Amino acid sequence: MPPVILAIESSCDDTSASVCVDGIVLSNVIANQSIHEAYGGVVPELASRVHQQNIVPAVQQALAKAKVSKNDVDAVAFTRGPGLLGSLLVGVSFAKAFALSKNIPLIEINHMQAHVLAHFIGSNKPSFPFLCLTVSGGHTQIVLVKDYFDMEVVGQTLDDAAGEAMDKTSKILGLPYPGGPLIDKHARLGNPEAYRFPEPQIQGFDFSFSGLKTSILYFIRDNVAKNPDFIAENINDICASVEGRIVSILLNKLKKAADLYDIKDVALAGGVSANTGLRQGLQKMGEKNGWNCFIPEMQYCTDNAGMIAIAGYHKYLKGDFAGQDVVPLARMPF
Ligand code: KG4
Ligand code: ZN
Repeated sequence: MPPVILAIESSCDDTSASVCVDGIVLSNVIANQSIHEAYGGVVPELASRVHQQNIVPAVQQALAKAKVSKNDVDAVAFTRGPGLLGSLLVGVSFAKAFALSKNIPLIEINHMQAHVLAHFIGSNKPSFPFLCLTVSGGHTQIVLVKDYFDMEVVGQTLDDAAGEAMDKTSKILGLPYPGGPLIDKHARLGNPEAYRFPEPQIQGFDFSFSGLKTSILYFIRDNVAKNPDFIAENINDICASVEGRIVSILLNKLKKAADLYDIKDVALAGGVSANTGLRQGLQKMGEKNGWNCFIPEMQYCTDNAGMIAIAGYHKYLKGDFAGQDVVPLARMPF
């Protein structure tokens, strides 16, 4: 019988459940938490409470959409980490309880590996080895992917993540959280050459975004002092220029890594891979360098259980199961 995997993702502020049958993701239900908007960022305590409310309906919907009965599930895959501990606890506890009640195996998944493995959901899959630029609200990594679970982080941020830089910039501009999608929206209407923000000079494949954040803060502060309407009058150009700089920082490092490792299959993953400028920038760079570029479908860019399901399927095939004593990890290396 083809394996039926139920997958749970609850590492941050999205509660998600997915069902995958024989390696095909049949449902991917995502319950977003709008409660954090008023606070300008995710409030961990509130996130875990809302996960608790959302998790059962999300699982029920995922099973219904996939037309699968809970009695037919062969294994439960869940995000073990990294993420917010209180949020992870809800998903891990649910997965354990479900597995215990049905006497089926548990499969632990690393959230960052799952973002990379989202590329194996569709029919257009990269070939090993490939490079994946994983950019989210908490991480910025260049990953050399040698096999499904054999990945090496060759570069990462030394301070803020790319998504954090987007979100902090939007906060400075007075836009609501999460700001990344709004920066994207305004950037489409602006000129990326309007303002020049510095590119940090960091050795190797590592990144740094904290200096950029400070320079944006000072730039806005100084201009608003001269003209109180500066943001309102120039928001599109500011967003286009900030986005352009973040994209160039990311893609310049990716190009260096692709050259050094002599890689032609190059992928994007994580929430920031939903960004239009980054998607277009990668395509352009790929055409110039003869790369095969892989960009996930929108629903598999930001946090989702579909990616946990596909990762779970590949672990299921290996018989790689977790025990009932498994605990979530806020920090979880590859
Ligand atoms: O992977 P993800 O959903 O959650 C984490 O694991 O962090 O990524 C969320 C991040 C946020 O910083 C959000 O602002 C950013 O992804 N993001 C975007 C876009 N959509 C989401 N950033 C830029 N442009 C977008 N269209
Ligand atoms: Zn994520």
